[in-house]
Amino acid sequence: MASGAWITQMLHVAAELSLADQLEGGDRSAEDLAAACAAHPDTLFRLLRALASVGVFQETAPRTFALTPLAELLHSDHPQSLRQFLRMLGEEHYLAWDGLLQSVRSGTPAFHERYGCSVFEHYQQQPERGEIFDGAMSDFSRQEIAGLLAAFSFEGITHLVDVGGGRGELLMRVLDRHPHLQGTVFDQPSVVAPVSVPTALEGRLNVVAGDFFQAVPAGADAYLLKHIIHDWDDDRCLRILGHIRSAMAPGGRVLILEQVIPPGNDPFPGKLLDLNMLVMTEGGRERTPEEYALLLEKAGLRLSAITPTPSPISVVEAVAITSA
Ligand SMILES: C[S@@+](CC[C@H](N)C(=O)[O-])C[C@H]1O[C@@H](n2cnc3c(N)ncnc32)[C@H](O)[C@@H]1O
Repeated sequence: MASGAWITQMLHVAAELSLADQLEGGDRSAEDLAAACAAHPDTLFRLLRALASVGVFQETAPRTFALTPLAELLHSDHPQSLRQFLRMLGEEHYLAWDGLLQSVRSGTPAFHERYGCSVFEHYQQQPERGEIFDGAMSDFSRQEIAGLLAAFSFEGITHLVDVGGGRGELLMRVLDRHPHLQGTVFDQPSVVAPVSVPTALEGRLNVVAGDFFQAVPAGADAYLLKHIIHDWDDDRCLRILGHIRSAMAPGGRVLILEQVIPPGNDPFPGKLLDLNMLVMTEGGRERTPEEYALLLEKAGLRLSAITPTPSPISVVEAVAITSA
């Protein structure tokens, strides 16, 4: 546990140097790999030896390495690739976590202290880093989507808006699975600009650019927010939820997908992700069922169900509170 940060950096460097991509054709010597990825040969050998000691790559002959099942997850084209996620984690996240002590003392985000702006401003200002962030979100999302599709029925919904839906990866998978659904992916202009609608989804998938603090697309009967509410403090969550409350069709539903914190001491990834939100965002946090119920009530919504999925995320479902 104490030296876990070393492994984060080892994986980060392997992802940056595209080592798994370089090994897709079979075993290669450290010297050969170093020439291909502009690295120092003996030092690259030491990195590969250390990674092999934790199951990522294996030494098949002296100073010659091959992929392992774990190393394959570093390949850019693997269906469960974590390459962009590791590129993000080892840079912005790693540097911001360096300030955890200061965040715990002050309650303010270490990211802001380090970079002089919010995390979303940073990615807007540095489009090449924004690309990596969007790719990282897709990597992270892939871990969750299969479980969501298995655990949650989208029955009774006709038009689903994915608020802050990134490049639409989740929505496209949901529409593929549920042919009766219309979908709208809504995110910042720079994020949705490169999204192209696959031919099979033409006429069923809209791509809309905007700012969820101003408005969200109106008239749908379900609004999904995956890893949006955990990015913000209660006041800003209430602004987003308030816009959804006024935009949604009568009888509509809000579907919040987050890691809902259980009580007690048992291990749960959301308890660590909560600290990541502390460090990285302006007031973001993971919440308990009680905290969701209270937040939703303040937005004029009632928590109606929490559905667990095989991944750590649950679907927190809410409907409008009507006065009658
Ligand atoms: C943590 S990511 C989650 C992305 C996606 N829902 C997922 O789970 O992979 C947060 C998303 O919110 C979007 N976002 C941030 N501020 C926004 C705003 N003011 N209006 C619309 N989208 C915004 C970001 O561009 C990003 O795609």
